[in-house]
Amino acid sequence: MDIEKILNNMTTEEKLCQMTQLNSICVYHGENMFSFLNLSDKQRDSIGSVLAYNMDYDVKGNLDEHLKNDTNKIPLIIMLDIIHGYKTIFPIPLAMGASFDENLVEECCKFSAVEATKEGVMVTFAPMVDLARDARWGRVMETTSEDPFLNGEFGKAMIRGYHKGGLACCVKHFAAYGAVESGRDYNFVDMSEHSLREYYLKAYYECLKEKPELVMTSFNSLNGVPATGDKHLMIDILRNEWGYDGVLITDYNAVLEMITHRFKKDRKEAAKAALKAGVDIEMCSSTFALEGQELVNDAEIDINTIDNSVRRILKLKEKMGLFENPYYKLSKDKVVVDEQGRTLARKMAEETFVLLKNNNVLPLKEKDKVAYIGPFVDTKEILGSWSMFADTTATVSVKVGVENLLGKKIKSEKGCGWAWNDYDESKIPNAIKLASTADKVVICFGEHQSESGECQSKTDIKLSKTQTKLIKELHKLGKPIIGVVFTGRPIVINEIVDMLDGLMLVWQPGTEGGSAIANALYGKVNTFGKLTMSFPRTVGQCPIYYNCLPTGRPFATEAGYFFGTTCYIDELNTPLFPFGFGLSYTKFKLSNLNITSKTMTENESSYISVNVKNIGDVDGSEVVQMYLRDDFSELVRPDKELKAYKRIFLKAGEEQVVKFEINKDTLSYYGPDNILTTEKGTFTIYISCDGINFEELKLELK
Ligand code: NOJ
Repeated sequence: MDIEKILNNMTTEEKLCQMTQLNSICVYHGENMFSFLNLSDKQRDSIGSVLAYNMDYDVKGNLDEHLKNDTNKIPLIIMLDIIHGYKTIFPIPLAMGASFDENLVEECCKFSAVEATKEGVMVTFAPMVDLARDARWGRVMETTSEDPFLNGEFGKAMIRGYHKGGLACCVKHFAAYGAVESGRDYNFVDMSEHSLREYYLKAYYECLKEKPELVMTSFNSLNGVPATGDKHLMIDILRNEWGYDGVLITDYNAVLEMITHRFKKDRKEAAKAALKAGVDIEMCSSTFALEGQELVNDAEIDINTIDNSVRRILKLKEKMGLFENPYYKLSKDKVVVDEQGRTLARKMAEETFVLLKNNNVLPLKEKDKVAYIGPFVDTKEILGSWSMFADTTATVSVKVGVENLLGKKIKSEKGCGWAWNDYDESKIPNAIKLASTADKVVICFGEHQSESGECQSKTDIKLSKTQTKLIKELHKLGKPIIGVVFTGRPIVINEIVDMLDGLMLVWQPGTEGGSAIANALYGKVNTFGKLTMSFPRTVGQCPIYYNCLPTGRPFATEAGYFFGTTCYIDELNTPLFPFGFGLSYTKFKLSNLNITSKTMTENESSYISVNVKNIGDVDGSEVVQMYLRDDFSELVRPDKELKAYKRIFLKAGEEQVVKFEINKDTLSYYGPDNILTTEKGTFTIYISCDGINFEELKLELK
């Protein structure tokens, strides 16, 4: 394909339309959503891509019609958010992170890509690798953790998986979208260049190693500049420093929103700012198409800038083979949820569960007389926020999952609704009645899938009043209570946590959620997930994250308030459950922590080894985590930073040596000049399996 020839034949208007994305595949047939962009028919015929929220229309018909009408015969590219599944839904990304299993996550993404491309999707707006430290922000469900390293590792795995399944990827949201002030979605971000580079940019940068085809700008302003018009972010850092030469797309309507930010006064100025910042595709607004020509005519934008963008878009289409086959992998058959997808979804869900508490009440025995209570027992609404394309009928609820496992019907009671503002207590007595007939109670509580995700920020992340009341009433019965908590974010449960004898975090587990939960509750699988976001004791602690900086006045005692130290007068500093925490049905013991050399130079590596033994009665997996502390540095660095992890499987009684390499990269950070640097001196290396107990040793960089 001769891209230069196509480019030479295109008018400026056609080029600008190539750089425009419409909302809807239904450009020609079906429900038409593009008209609000005020494009003429000719402009519509020249657009370059669509965001296809609805794939139920005639995809082939629309692609054909476009090719027939477009003067330059440039195929359309269809983009969509495939975040944790398409028809078969996998657990939300925050849950996937808890598995510490990038290989399985990669497989799930590959599977989703195969499903989505069969129905015509060509690009996914994933992975999202925004660093999430504030549980009030609803979109924490869409990233994998509060840790930059982990987000980078999972982002790369997701890209690998999508690519293997044939879907092009878009890393988002560039940049620092996770740091929105007060945890309120779309809010502004203000942070030092040091924090930006050291914590927030790292995962996006890592992802580029897997060659994602697109990067998406974020909605937020960063240090006073909306990201979509930020030359420093996009030109200086992304393009020049990192050498990214793929397509840069805006988030939805983000060019126009630069006017609402009061950064640019009209459409033309907004378009100019985005073009100058290197944006190639404007998502779902039409300032390029409608104002771009004048900007070029007035020599405010160089035609070379436009040509470069179009070249990048055409190259992407060429790379995907769209000029030869404009339908990409579109199949005649609609995708249906199948056994392969179910097995994978179940396995993934089982690996994401985090056992937070177990006073010898789990696993359940099949003969146990259990009452299943709560708003999440008998519902299929356990998929998570990005499940709009799911086959919702295929979802296995907890009730059905348990019934399938036990081979008999079980009784359940809802007890109350899930919503934060549902104050109806009238069904609690029915729940108490059922619970009083049982020996153990399983209470499925938490947040609904609609309470996290985009634009679902909360000021109070406490378990709803009515669910709290339900648990308190159940507790009065004096029976063992096992909590199964559904959520898309860390929630505050300290009012009821002591009333629970067992507690399993299952997030929003997806299509096979109910079967996976049944397997985990009855010990058919051994859980080993670890928290990748800290669970606060109270919302007032947010943002709370493990890799925070020390202070000059560390708290003297965790027993409570102590004047003159950094603390609250009404709450502890620590989270209820920390990053890295998670129990298992077996126990592991660490011993023999060793290092090959206690000193090293920048050009050398040192190797840590530690013995891990399964000292319990059942087989199980464990996540061995390696953290680092720079003992003294030019800039204050975190108390602990995750630098590596290994997930291992050990049979009961089995022991294995786990090794980690430490090299220059492990020790480096963005120093005072915002340049990656290493400083001579001592470091503390910590090894942990639960984020609470740490074995440590010292290393010196000479
Ligand atoms: C807005 C969201 O912020 C972004 O993540 C998503 O990809 C686009 N909408 C398209 O759906």
